[in-house]
Amino acid sequence: MISSVLMLIGAVAAWVLYRTASGLYTNIALAKASGLRYFVVPVNPITPIAQLTAPVWIAIWKLVVPKKYWEDVVDVCSPDWQHKKLHAPFEKMGETFVIATPSRMMMYTDSAEVIHQMTSRREAFPKPTETYGILTMFGENVVTTEGTIWRMHRKVTSASFNERNSAMVFKVAIEQAQGMVDYWIRRDTTQKIKSMEEDTMTLALNIIGYVGFGLRMLWPGQTLPGDADPKMSKYVSLDVPAGHTISFKESIARTLKYLLVLLMTPTLIIDYLPIKILKLSREARDNYTQYMKEFLRDKAEDVRQGDKEVGMDIMGSLVATSYQDEQSKTKVGKGAHLKDSEIIGNAFIMFLAGHETSANVIHFTLLELANNPAAQRRLQKDVDTILGGTDPSTWDYDQSVNAMMASTIGAAMNETLRVMPPVVEVPKKVSPTYDQTVTINDQKHTLPRNMYIGMIVSSVHRNPRFWPGKPSKIRDCPHDLDDWVPDRWFRPSFNDVTSVEGADTEDFGGYAGPDTSASMFHPVRGSYIPFSDGARSCLGRRIAQVEIIAALAVIFQKYSIENAVDDWASDEEIARMSRQEKADLYQRATRRSRQTLREASSLITLKLKGDAHVPVRLVRRGEERFVDWVE
Ligand code: HEM
Ligand SMILES: *[C@@H]1O[C@H](CO)[C@@H](O)[C@H](O)[C@H]1NC(C)=O
Ligand SMILES: *[C@@H]1O[C@H](CO)[C@@H](O)[C@H](O)[C@H]1NC(C)=O
Repeated sequence: MISSVLMLIGAVAAWVLYRTASGLYTNIALAKASGLRYFVVPVNPITPIAQLTAPVWIAIWKLVVPKKYWEDVVDVCSPDWQHKKLHAPFEKMGETFVIATPSRMMMYTDSAEVIHQMTSRREAFPKPTETYGILTMFGENVVTTEGTIWRMHRKVTSASFNERNSAMVFKVAIEQAQGMVDYWIRRDTTQKIKSMEEDTMTLALNIIGYVGFGLRMLWPGQTLPGDADPKMSKYVSLDVPAGHTISFKESIARTLKYLLVLLMTPTLIIDYLPIKILKLSREARDNYTQYMKEFLRDKAEDVRQGDKEVGMDIMGSLVATSYQDEQSKTKVGKGAHLKDSEIIGNAFIMFLAGHETSANVIHFTLLELANNPAAQRRLQKDVDTILGGTDPSTWDYDQSVNAMMASTIGAAMNETLRVMPPVVEVPKKVSPTYDQTVTINDQKHTLPRNMYIGMIVSSVHRNPRFWPGKPSKIRDCPHDLDDWVPDRWFRPSFNDVTSVEGADTEDFGGYAGPDTSASMFHPVRGSYIPFSDGARSCLGRRIAQVEIIAALAVIFQKYSIENAVDDWASDEEIARMSRQEKADLYQRATRRSRQTLREASSLITLKLKGDAHVPVRLVRRGEERFVDWVE
């Protein structure tokens, strides 16, 4: 008995060894054939199991294998390395290198030329959708599909992302940002804000609630306006409607919060184990699913009654295109029908894609403006010039948006997207059917079919070959590429790269306007990819940018944001301080904030780690204690 068990174990071990060795042998040959620099890693580091066990297998690897084989490549093998290591691994290993593992091949790059080739040849370099399976929980959608099915999803969903709707997002973002500021003032008369993370999440959620569903979501303490659609009030209100145990907002916020729990845990375990976090996740998932079904029914009812859609409402327009009778279908061609599950799947993905990403950019920009008082003052000056003291509800999209984008408001946003990109790595792969080539310095390299490609956003955004730098003002470093410096967006540009052979020429929907104004710093194509680029680039790019600048303008028109110094000095003590003492005190808070930002981590998007937070104070302009004069 024992001997047969031993034999079985022996056989399994031999088989694993054989598979590992033969896999490595094949893949090393492919890596050599590519002519690119390559490294050997004993485990495919991007599988969930390898990520969970990273400290263990990396420790064993380091013990068993001579240092020269792992000392460089180990940097890119732990999970969440992108924002930790930045451009450094590419400094050591080159801008584009291959990793041979016993199972999958992979290539990492922070070269703008290579990235530009990957993003402009969709069929040669598709999305590795096999790793997104988990995002289909509520139905297939535009993020999780490829090929003709993706085209159909992209076509139907992109119809909503037009300039008319961007103008509406501008309006709603203004309303919501005012809602947030009023809420801050109501909540604490001293206007101390322990952490802005949750509030900026609510802000982005409320905006996406409008974008996705046409809902005017409320802040705590706000009441429904008189002319609100009664059918919609159950989704907007913070009260819990009959049949549900949590509000719609709570159901979506919590589903997103516990997304990884929901995605990683088998349904049976979620449904039957009495663990608090599982119960919370389940309640969110079940109530959200039910809300979505009801919402779909309500919208289908509207469509049948011929109710005109007003405002932006992706879900409504998806329902309309799928439920309208054949002849009245004008916007999208025949066959662009989505199943109910696909409508709900797309609605969910809009929440997922547009919520935490935009929220983090607003959050980080507010923090960086507190850390850089001079930039904050410049931004306020630009707000004053463009919008003056006018009531935000009168701000006009067509009249103001370009000027806002081109000012320090836009520069602050662009700089946060550079330094703290919500998506730190954009995954691609080589077509599963054919090997492909990539051209580097006029030399063609063969990339084996199905190889995983990681375009490292956090790294290429700091690659000095594409970004002009000046000596850092805040650390001992010859360049300022790791610092948040909005002024760089007004520096002169480098020349652009040449066009890509066999590039996509079709219009895949979404905003097609220029990335940056011609008169300003214009990044080399492929070197600035916070929204990715090409056919699979972010559909929500324009509305995200519009909501971010709208929120910044609303806040800084009347207020400043200062780092809280309460951990070191009371208000009375500060009142007695000399200028120098005050400046030193503020510097201390700024240093702590920068450290916290530096330690941000990325589970789904880049955000402050765990419970980490940066306390600030909202102060009326004219009543600042620090940021109106500190450098
Ligand atoms: C600052 C905010 C945002 C950032 C940084 C961002 C970033 C990105 C990136 C990097 C991708 C490509 C992902 C990949 O290839 O794996 C993407 C795709 C996408 N984003 Fe965004 N996004 C933002 C906001 C939004 C918003 C507000 C929406 C919608 C309301 C949205 C909808 C989408 C969709 C639908 C896709 C998939 C497009 C496709 O595959 O065809 N995003 N986004
Ligand atoms: C909401 O969640 C609770 C707790 O999991 C569940 O009992 C209830 O049926 C859910 N409501 C709906 C409408 O799904
Ligand atoms: C920031 O990015 C936006 C959108 O891509 C662009 O229109 C604007 O000109 C940029 N602003 C600056 C100051 O570079």
